[in-house]
Amino acid sequence: MTVSHRSPTPSGAVIHPDRATQLPGLASRRRWLLAAPAWVAFPALMAGRPAHARSLRPTPSQSEGPFYPDQSLADADADLLRNGSQMSDGGQPAWVNGSVVDLDGRPVRGAVVEIWQCDHRGLYRHSRSSGDRAMAFQGFGRTTVDAEGGWRFRTIRPVSYPGRPPHIHLKVRLGSRELLTTQIYVRGEGANARDWLLARLDADARAQLEVDFRSGPDGLNATFPVVVRT
Ligand SMILES: [Fe+2]
Repeated sequence: MTVSHRSPTPSGAVIHPDRATQLPGLASRRRWLLAAPAWVAFPALMAGRPAHARSLRPTPSQSEGPFYPDQSLADADADLLRNGSQMSDGGQPAWVNGSVVDLDGRPVRGAVVEIWQCDHRGLYRHSRSSGDRAMAFQGFGRTTVDAEGGWRFRTIRPVSYPGRPPHIHLKVRLGSRELLTTQIYVRGEGANARDWLLARLDADARAQLEVDFRSGPDGLNATFPVVVRT
């Protein structure tokens, strides 16, 4: 794997989502990403649920697929809407955030979250994904969770391509170990019911991988809480 490591260093600061309206725009995006999303920490944690209160259901795994980056990436940070100096303007901008906790709901400190997805034309940042790819769309990003296990990416709402409903690939690493590889789906997409990968899961597992993309002050927002065995 030759992807470069340029993960932002989360500050652990708590920023309410309403403050997104106060940010002056694209120039602040990097700072916004660096301000880690503690508010998206796992809901049970936010409610002060005592550790070891119960065992959580792990996030279902899914196949990695053929389009994990196979080339060295100069830009692989958490802002997928900017690739180097190029700004992406295709697709629907979306914040995708979440948390990584263990089966007892404790943040998995040091966990690294990666996402990758096709551009708004359905093309991946991969040597076998041929076509007129949107070069300004980064297509892959990596970040380290904050002290509460929170993570956040700036990207686009995923789109479908032949044979698959809209989805975002996600991988969680801890040191040299891969804790999880899965995919995030858009709740309510009709194509989900016909997808051969989702069909392998029971209803509860499918529900864990489907998230709402809701309109917010700075584009769409989706939250994907991740539970892993450590
Ligand atoms: Fe895919």
